[in-house]
Amino acid sequence: MNPVTHAQIDWDDQGRPHSRVFDDVYFSDQSGLEETRYVFLEQNRLQARFAALPAGGRLVIGETGFGTGLNFLCAWQLFEQHAVAGARLHFVSVEKYPLSHADLQRALLLWPELQPFAAQLLAQYIAIHPGFQRLVLDNGRVTLTLLIGDALEQLPQLDAQIDAWFLDGFAPAKNPDMWTAELFAELARLAAPGSTISTFTSTGWVRRLINAAGFKMKRTPGIGHKWEILRGEFLGWPAETPLPAAGKPWFARPAPLHGERSALVIGGGLAGCTTAASLAARGWNVSLLERHARLAEEASGNPQGVLYLKLSAHGTALSQLILSGFGHTRRLLEHLHRGVDWDGCGVLQLAFNAKEAERQAQLAAAFAPGLLQPLDQAQAQARAGVALEHGGLFFPEGGWVHPPALCEWQARHPLINVLTHHEALELQRVDGQWQALAGDTLLASATVVVLAGAAEIKRFPFSAELPLKRIRGQITRLAQTPDSQALATVVCAEGYVAPARLSEHTLGASFDFKSDDLTPTVAEHVGNLEMLQEISVDLAHRLNADTLAADQLEGRAGFRCTSPDYLPIIGPLADRALFDQAYAALRKDARQPPEAECPWLDGVYINSGHGSRGLVTAPLCAELLAAWLDDEPLPLPRSVADACHPNRFAVRALIRGTGGS
Ligand SMILES: Cc1cc2nc3c(=O)[nH]c(=O)nc-3n(C[C@H](O)[C@H](O)[C@H](O)COP(=O)(O)OP(=O)(O)OC[C@H]3O[C@@H](n4cnc5c(N)ncnc54)[C@H](O)[C@@H]3O)c2cc1C
Ligand SMILES: C[S@@+](CC[C@H](N)C(=O)[O-])C[C@H]1O[C@@H](n2cnc3c(N)ncnc32)[C@H](O)[C@@H]1O
Repeated sequence: MNPVTHAQIDWDDQGRPHSRVFDDVYFSDQSGLEETRYVFLEQNRLQARFAALPAGGRLVIGETGFGTGLNFLCAWQLFEQHAVAGARLHFVSVEKYPLSHADLQRALLLWPELQPFAAQLLAQYIAIHPGFQRLVLDNGRVTLTLLIGDALEQLPQLDAQIDAWFLDGFAPAKNPDMWTAELFAELARLAAPGSTISTFTSTGWVRRLINAAGFKMKRTPGIGHKWEILRGEFLGWPAETPLPAAGKPWFARPAPLHGERSALVIGGGLAGCTTAASLAARGWNVSLLERHARLAEEASGNPQGVLYLKLSAHGTALSQLILSGFGHTRRLLEHLHRGVDWDGCGVLQLAFNAKEAERQAQLAAAFAPGLLQPLDQAQAQARAGVALEHGGLFFPEGGWVHPPALCEWQARHPLINVLTHHEALELQRVDGQWQALAGDTLLASATVVVLAGAAEIKRFPFSAELPLKRIRGQITRLAQTPDSQALATVVCAEGYVAPARLSEHTLGASFDFKSDDLTPTVAEHVGNLEMLQEISVDLAHRLNADTLAADQLEGRAGFRCTSPDYLPIIGPLADRALFDQAYAALRKDARQPPEAECPWLDGVYINSGHGSRGLVTAPLCAELLAAWLDDEPLPLPRSVADACHPNRFAVRALIRGTGGS
């Protein structure tokens, strides 16, 4: 992965953007709006298609070249004008050089009639980093998934069915990379049956290459100073071309559910509340069951959690998930009350030893300064507002979050019925419905059940074998002092400390792999205070840490819930015994995967294993789960979704010869 570079733009005397790298215009200098509407909306017959969508229906548009988002905003406006309530628009667009926020704002000033849509886009155009970045707009009615990176790197990772393609990657002569046979094969792979396509160019070789990929393109009269443009439709994968490699059957999508869209979500922490929100935004009726009196009483109940990115310079699945998840959470937080519910004060990760300094140097070379900035000791302490012994990496868009506020906001939707004091002891399937029971009492029922109760999901027989471990952690609450007010960012070393929320700092967090008890201990408070000294002796002094009696300190403990590969567990669950039978051949030869269909458990889904970074992973994983359930474009690269799939453990066990009977 290369650091993302923003578009380099020159502005003409009419205020129109021009790409310096490609020496081309973002839209026609006659009338960008008219051209977009004619070339992309009309040629794909979007008005009629939007009008024909039923409530609960959706249309997925794919685009090469997001640029200023003009095409997106015009499509959204048309959707708004013609689609019924309850229909949804998905827009997936790939962009190698995203505009900076300031440039996007400037470009969109050109279109006053799009202002209501542009304002929403700009409010969410934050933390746009490489990879998949999901933006949830208009309360979830419109979903924008930006794939930040080169089209030929990003599109092969996309798992989606595109109903209409917009090809808009600068003129073929100026940017031939966006008009290659390889890229068109990707468009064909992703095309839904009957998919349409259009582009402003009528260049002969482009038309022939798109046709060869399986589309049937027609020249059609152009607009402005374009004589002709191209529109077409997808006929099917060409017979003479080898089919794209099939995915593993155990990661395939279960058949979409028909009928009532209702879900039981079990667990009212970050995983459960965000799952409920993602489903409700798609029109699902959700019963959210939580055993405690309130939401967010367990791991998600700390006063402050850190929006912390433990990245890898090597683009691992976990690192990709973290980068996409961070962007998504960061954008959601814009809806919450800054200062009380969260604060974007930045996060400073100290280079507290040589190994960490080396890791940070690699990260600084791999990512752009908009995401992370290496600071020397003097710069770091100027940022932090307190004396520090080390420099480190500063994440300007990071900060702290009050997780209960995020949970409560996510659960606040008319389609979500929050049922506190409801502990699901048993689940049973009766007449196509999942029932949650507590003894003889039926708590709730629905067609789908999502297990979001952290490690507690192991109590249900069909999820008992998922390898989830609990790791106890404790935070310490420290009263703000006049001197500690100087702390300006979250600072992390082995532990973390945040600027005060409601006059209290959160200092965290211990790790205990053995204890099952959640009573806070003095020993862990002492351990947390030692981590504070490691972060900053000056801050410890400002907080009067030396004079605090550890047995008087207040805090709370919770269980992190972690999987062996540190990735969360997200997606549909299979019947383990039948799975082991269906794929028994893997025990003998893992290179010849059997093609048998996966024996899914009807309507059982998992959202768990968020470890010590649920703030970053849970909200996007909820979108991933909803995408599995609603057969939508996945919000993450397919390889990352596979890496988080519940079936990964069963497959590994078979291959290692340790699984099954
Ligand atoms: C000390 C500590 C510090 C942390 N610091 C950070 C941090 O700085 N940044 C960060 O991103 N993450 C942090 N984390 C991790 C983060 O808190 C978790 O990843 C996240 O809260 C997990 O959310 P969850 O919904 O999966 O689990 P939980 O919040 O534990 O929620 C599970 C819920 O399910 C309910 N439940 C379980 N079974 C049932 C049932 N059968 N019926 C009804 N209800 C049920 C439980 O009561 C619980 O409310 C920290 C965790 C700890 C413990
Ligand atoms: C004509 S502009 C798109 C205009 C845009 N659709 C709009 O509505 O404003 C072309 C876009 O393609 C992007 N681009 C060029 N080459 C690319 C590549 N190889 N991969 C991804 N995006 C690319 C450019 O950065 C630019 O933003």
